[in-house]
Amino acid sequence: MRELREKCVMGVRLMNADRFYVTTPIYYVNDKPHIGHAYTTMLADTLARSHRLMGHDTWFLTGTDEHGQKVQEAAQKRGVPEQAHVDELVLRFQELWTRLEITHDDFIRTTQPRHSRIVQKILQDLFDRGEIYKADYKGLYDVKSETFITEKDLPDGCTVDNLPDYVKEIEESNYFFRMSNYQDWLIKHIEENPEFIQPEFRRNETLGFLRKELSDLCISRPKSRLAWGIELPFDEDYVTYVWFDALVNYISAVGYGSDDEAFARRWPCSVHLIGKDILTTHTVYWPTMLKAMGVEMPKTIFAHGWWLVKGGKMSKSDGNVVDPLDYADRFGVDALRYFLMAEMSLGQDASFTEEAFIKRYNSDLVNDLGNLNSRVLKMVHTHCDSKVPQASADAFAEEQAVQLWSKVQQAVEEAEKQLEALRPDLGVAAVLEAIREANRYIGSRAPWKQAKEEDKQPLYDTLVVAMESLRVCSALLWPVMPAKMEALRSMLGAPATEAEPADLRRSGVLVPGTDLPAAEGLFPRYQPPKTESKPQPKAPKGKTEGVVDIAECSFDDFAKLQLRVAEIKAAEKVEGADKLLKLQLDLNGEARQIIAGIAKHYAPEDLPGKRIVIIANLAPATIRGVESRGMLLAASKGKKKLTLITTDDPDFASGAKVG
Ligand code: MSP
Repeated sequence: MRELREKCVMGVRLMNADRFYVTTPIYYVNDKPHIGHAYTTMLADTLARSHRLMGHDTWFLTGTDEHGQKVQEAAQKRGVPEQAHVDELVLRFQELWTRLEITHDDFIRTTQPRHSRIVQKILQDLFDRGEIYKADYKGLYDVKSETFITEKDLPDGCTVDNLPDYVKEIEESNYFFRMSNYQDWLIKHIEENPEFIQPEFRRNETLGFLRKELSDLCISRPKSRLAWGIELPFDEDYVTYVWFDALVNYISAVGYGSDDEAFARRWPCSVHLIGKDILTTHTVYWPTMLKAMGVEMPKTIFAHGWWLVKGGKMSKSDGNVVDPLDYADRFGVDALRYFLMAEMSLGQDASFTEEAFIKRYNSDLVNDLGNLNSRVLKMVHTHCDSKVPQASADAFAEEQAVQLWSKVQQAVEEAEKQLEALRPDLGVAAVLEAIREANRYIGSRAPWKQAKEEDKQPLYDTLVVAMESLRVCSALLWPVMPAKMEALRSMLGAPATEAEPADLRRSGVLVPGTDLPAAEGLFPRYQPPKTESKPQPKAPKGKTEGVVDIAECSFDDFAKLQLRVAEIKAAEKVEGADKLLKLQLDLNGEARQIIAGIAKHYAPEDLPGKRIVIIANLAPATIRGVESRGMLLAASKGKKKLTLITTDDPDFASGAKVG
């Protein structure tokens, strides 16, 4: 058992194989929770449930980030005290997590005294040891992101003499943390510990960032500008910079500075799950802060990609923010959890579309899993007196049963391996493969024919092999769809979760003669509400002279395309493909890579700076092993001439809509 547990340990190499501590970012309390927040939290929940299932001492922390300018402004606008404001807003997160079956062990809020006390203790200690010093600062301050910036961070067309309204030039004294002292140490730590930042391309991104000289980190804000924060213990005129406050949650919640025993049990953290948007704060600020405190490093910081809508970021102004409750209400919480875990290749961005959701729901859950379950259980209730039938001794030795059971065992191996690689999407795919195999098994064993034979043993064998396969698959899918899998397991006469991890690898676990409750459909088929569609005008028959006959495209179809201006930042040849160039683009602050067949017409060095037009929401494709997200527009004359569609009008900066 112990050997098995150790083998099962995932991903993140644990200090002690039986211990697992996972965190999500603490979310800005002012934001309305959306699908992105729900994703990180569900991912952490899936990992935590898997570890608990394996008997590991598991701790799962989430929470809210409640200080800062935006909270202060929102509270003032409403005319309520800040604390009352955040006490009200935090409920949106807490209620959502309950609804989404999130099993966090602790929920930390940065306004809780158990947190602010520790932040102050750390600040005092660092100040006493000279790690924090006071200095004058003159420069640019971005009010939107509450950070100091330099001239190169200004948007196109802006200069120090022509600042956007959210950037202010300020001159003030502040406190700084000697982050620069730790630059060499951090590079070495990242290089020596490949699992520290994952996936690898994010690790390279941080190492790239560290190639430039690291400056010290401003960790204070004068109260005259921002009062809603944790007061510096050594200067009452200042509060703590929100990131210095927020990052400490990962240790203040598990006893740092207050309960040494609890802290030793939980820390170092096994995996900090974060989105790619907060890589620098977690892989540069946080490790250097810990180093200065003399605290061990977390084992892994894993940055996942973003959920995009129509190829772009979700934003309130575009009205395309996906509300997880909308999907939970229409399809059920477990279907939402399943979609999010199955659809995103961890590390990469993924597209959230209703079409993809419905497709996966109907094919994986309704047709494959739900159908298998109802076919098998209907036969058991009709022909086996609603009890687990007794299989013959060699039921699992029959040729088709061997084939199915080996697929089920492959799914067990794969699910464990992929959890280790933090790729739950691949684990889930392997389980679905086994479920499809079970459907093929039922199709070829035809139990409805076996039921007509006098000798019922072949029928019982078929049903038991299928039920045991379903039992193992339901255990593997339980961390993703806990409620539905518990319902399924109860229909099979199995305990809510696997009693022993070893049960995943053996048959004969269901007890013959067990009474089974009535079987219910697991996933009702989703029928989209009917909308009246206007008849499309027919394309004219025949050809008009000189005009190539093309099918008409409705305005609705055209409106699905998101045409945008993007700026080329870098270009290089794709190895082994003489027509292809790999372009790195900036799309309104978002980095994009696309592969384009323009190498015969443009030299890579001529491209940076050009503002081209791309289809931003084209489904991602892999071309010659390289991911391409989007397609550029060009006019061509046969194969000889090609010109990119560009704009040189500075008013149309990257991100501008075309159409
Ligand atoms: N408060 C900081 C984090 C402090 S942690 C010490 C913060 N909060 S946030 O509310 O903006 O949440 C950021 C996190 O939400 C991301 O890192 C990511 O985990 C999740 N997501 C937000 N939008 C997302 C998508 N569109 N897609 C996937 N996840 C994203 O930053």
